Amino acid sequence: MKSKVTYFCTACGNETPRWQGRCPACGAWNTIEECKTAPAASSARRTGLPQGSRQPKPLSQVDVSREVRFPTGLGELDRVLGGGAVQDSLVLVAGAPGIGKSTLLLQICSELCRNLRVLYVSGEESETQIKLRAQRLGVTTDNLLLLCETDLSQVLEAAETVKPDVLIADSVQTLCDGENASTPGSVSQVKACTMALMQLAKGSGVTVFVVGHVNKDGAIAGPRVLEHMVDCVLYFEGEAAHNYRILRAVKNRFGSTNEIGVFEMADHGLREVPNPSEMLLSGRPTHAPGTCVACAMEGSRPVLAEVQALVSRTNFNVPRRMADGFDINRAVLLMAVLEKRGGINLAGSDVYINVIGGLQLTEPAADLPVILAAASSFRDKALDSGVAAIGEVGLTGELRAVSHLGQRLSEVHRLGFRCCVIPRQGTSQVQPPEGLEILRVRHIREAIETLL
Ligand code: TYD
Ligand code: MG
Repeated sequence: MKSKVTYFCTACGNETPRWQGRCPACGAWNTIEECKTAPAASSARRTGLPQGSRQPKPLSQVDVSREVRFPTGLGELDRVLGGGAVQDSLVLVAGAPGIGKSTLLLQICSELCRNLRVLYVSGEESETQIKLRAQRLGVTTDNLLLLCETDLSQVLEAAETVKPDVLIADSVQTLCDGENASTPGSVSQVKACTMALMQLAKGSGVTVFVVGHVNKDGAIAGPRVLEHMVDCVLYFEGEAAHNYRILRAVKNRFGSTNEIGVFEMADHGLREVPNPSEMLLSGRPTHAPGTCVACAMEGSRPVLAEVQALVSRTNFNVPRRMADGFDINRAVLLMAVLEKRGGINLAGSDVYINVIGGLQLTEPAADLPVILAAASSFRDKALDSGVAAIGEVGLTGELRAVSHLGQRLSEVHRLGFRCCVIPRQGTSQVQPPEGLEILRVRHIREAIETLL
């Protein structure tokens, strides 16, 4: 049977029937790649579900007592997974090369191997390299089986003989399915190998962790095309210049996708950071204009982060607005509100916004800190370093209440802040923790005039 050719976007995973210069779904240029799908007969064999499970069944008769979770030994990873790894699931750990994916997965082996059989398949490193890394990480166990192999059928065969409870495949880009004509790392290879591993997970009850590399512009066929296939997608992020790493769930069939896990890359592997606020605020300049502390909810926990702004005279016809760690469109909107409602003339100024520590502030609660940081930089006057700010800003410059205010205030207090600025509207019921002064304001102009 002739194999069918389809085309995939490597950036968003959209399938198109023919090649196009631009992906119709996400609009990215030059990301469509050819993908030869295997003939129907063999692709039917490769659905993610085990054979024989296709009979319709009443929902009431589905047995759920089997959902078993086990701890991975890293509390931060367990939290992101929704309370531990789930048996029979396939977790994709994606991230830029060198960010620490292999380190993370090798590190959890020492806890996993206490009660489980773990098969670690690597197509990237030799046995010696893995052994050396394991020694460095303090992983000394007899239950860890290594296999340096890139051929998918060999990997599946080994899984058949060894019958591991956990299989780690590092990385999906190096695996190669012999039945597939395309080169390893291509969309069709990556999809075929993930499908086979998915079938192994669902069919034989193995928990599979798969590493997938992504690069900044998504040029390599990678995790984006796999997202819809797997149970859980974790992105491991961080900046090369910093030691901090953030693990984020982008998709999770067994838990929330809001949680983040924070790690620090140290000499002996990844160290958990149970107090991300302390880490994100460390080294914060005091008495410097253009910085303000924000409090964002990351899943169920409040996290403090420093927002910095630089407002400088522009050399361009159209002043520049740039934001890192904050949505640029939101930043542009807030600068317009600051100008029109806050009475600060930014027309002749470039504005740069940066959130320290690689955190992405996606919450409206960070609006007020962004406004205050920009106003502080414009006036070249520092905010009191014992003050944090929380609040959503509306288009008339009014401040609006945000969720989980009590929890946020406790975190602000715990980190030793003297005072917190919050919206007046909708917060009359809020009881601040003892010792934390609360400044309730209605409008950004009021906030700026009181604090600067
Ligand atoms: P690695 O896990 O190999 O990255 P990935 O699998 O995502 O490509 O991590 C590699 C980086 O981590 C490397 O630059 C060195 C650093 N590292 C440490 O700083 N400390 C350690 O204990 C280890 C094992 C690695
Ligand atoms: Mg690696």
